[in-house]
Amino acid sequence: MDKTVKYYMAPLESVTTWIYRQAHAKIYGRLDKYFIPFLEPHEKRDFKTRELQEILPEHNENIYAVPQILTNRSEGFIKLAKALKDWGYEEINLNLGCPSKTVVTKGKGSGFLAKPEELERFLTEIFDALSGEVKISVKTRIGKENPEEFPALLELFNKYPMEELIIHPRVQKDGYGNVPRLELYELAEKQSVNPLCYNGDLYTREQIRNFAERFPGTERLMFGRGFLRDPGLLYNEGKDSKDIFEKFWAFHDLVYEGYQERNMGDRNVLFKMKELWSYQVYQFSEPERLFKTFKKMQDCNEYEQMIRNLRR
Ligand SMILES: Cc1cc2nc3c(=O)[nH]c(=O)nc-3n(C[C@H](O)[C@H](O)[C@H](O)COP(=O)(O)O)c2cc1C
Repeated sequence: MDKTVKYYMAPLESVTTWIYRQAHAKIYGRLDKYFIPFLEPHEKRDFKTRELQEILPEHNENIYAVPQILTNRSEGFIKLAKALKDWGYEEINLNLGCPSKTVVTKGKGSGFLAKPEELERFLTEIFDALSGEVKISVKTRIGKENPEEFPALLELFNKYPMEELIIHPRVQKDGYGNVPRLELYELAEKQSVNPLCYNGDLYTREQIRNFAERFPGTERLMFGRGFLRDPGLLYNEGKDSKDIFEKFWAFHDLVYEGYQERNMGDRNVLFKMKELWSYQVYQFSEPERLFKTFKKMQDCNEYEQMIRNLRR
C-alpha cells in the first residue's frame, strides 16, 4: 500500500452494508473512507428501515463514513443532507453514476448526466444552500450514451467546490461491460479543478500498480468489486497464505455472524451470503463451479457445512 494514497470502499447497494464495512475495518484495518450505498429523499417519511440501519451513527462508529444521495431534486437533497449533518456526517456524496434503467429513466443517477442544464441548476442550488454546512463530493460516470459528453460535464463540475470528484470512467450504456475509458480519466486529471478519485475495475495488486504507474498523480482510489472478490486486496501483499486465509475466514465469520445477529431469518442471511460469494469465489479454484454449489443451497446448515469443507 502506498502511504501517500487514500483508499476508499465503494458503495454497493445491499452488499457493502454496515455489517460488511465494520467487519472489513476490524479485520483488515481502517480505510480512509467508506461510502454508504445510496439513500433517496422521501416525501412522507425520513428513512426506510434498511436506510436507517445503514446510517445509524452507532453502525458507523470508528470509521469515516460518507452517506450518498440519489436524486435530481435539489430540495430533497438539501433537506436530507441537513438531516445527515445533524446525525454527525461531515460529507455527503451525490450519485451521478447509477446505471439502472429504473433510475435512469427518471433522470437520476447517470441519467442526470444527459440533462446538463437541469444538472447545473441542481448543483448550483445544492452548493449555494450547503456550502459551509457539509462537504459535498460527487461520484460520476463520464456520460450517458457517449464518452464525448464528458468534456462538457467536466467543465460543469469545475464550477463547484467539490470535496472530491470520483470518476468511474464508463458511460451509462456500458453498464459494467466494456473497459473503463482511461483516456477520459486522463483528461480529468489534466483539467479538473477538484481533487480526483479513480474508481473502476481494480481487482488485483498488479492492476493497482499498473494504474499507479500510468497515473502517478492520483492520490485517491476507490474499490468496489476488488474488495468483494478479495477483501484482503490491500492487506495481503507480502503475507503468507496461512495468514491470508486466516484473515479471510475471520472476516467471513464476522460478516456471517453479523447478519445472523440481525434476526433477518435464515433465507435472508443465506441470500446475503450467496451474493457475497458470487464475488468471493474468485479466490478459490474453479470459481464458477463453486458458485453453482453455493447457489443451490437451501438453508444455513447446508451453508455452514460447505464452509467447514472449504476451510479444510
Ligand atoms: C451490486 C452493485 C451495487 C452498487 N451500488 C452502488 C451505489 O449504491 N452507489 C454508487 O454510487 N455505486 C454503486 N455501485 C457502483 C460501485 O460503487 C462502483 O462504482 C462500480 O462497481 C465500479 O467500481 P469497481 O470496479 O471497483 O467495482 C454498485 C455496483 C454494484 C455491482
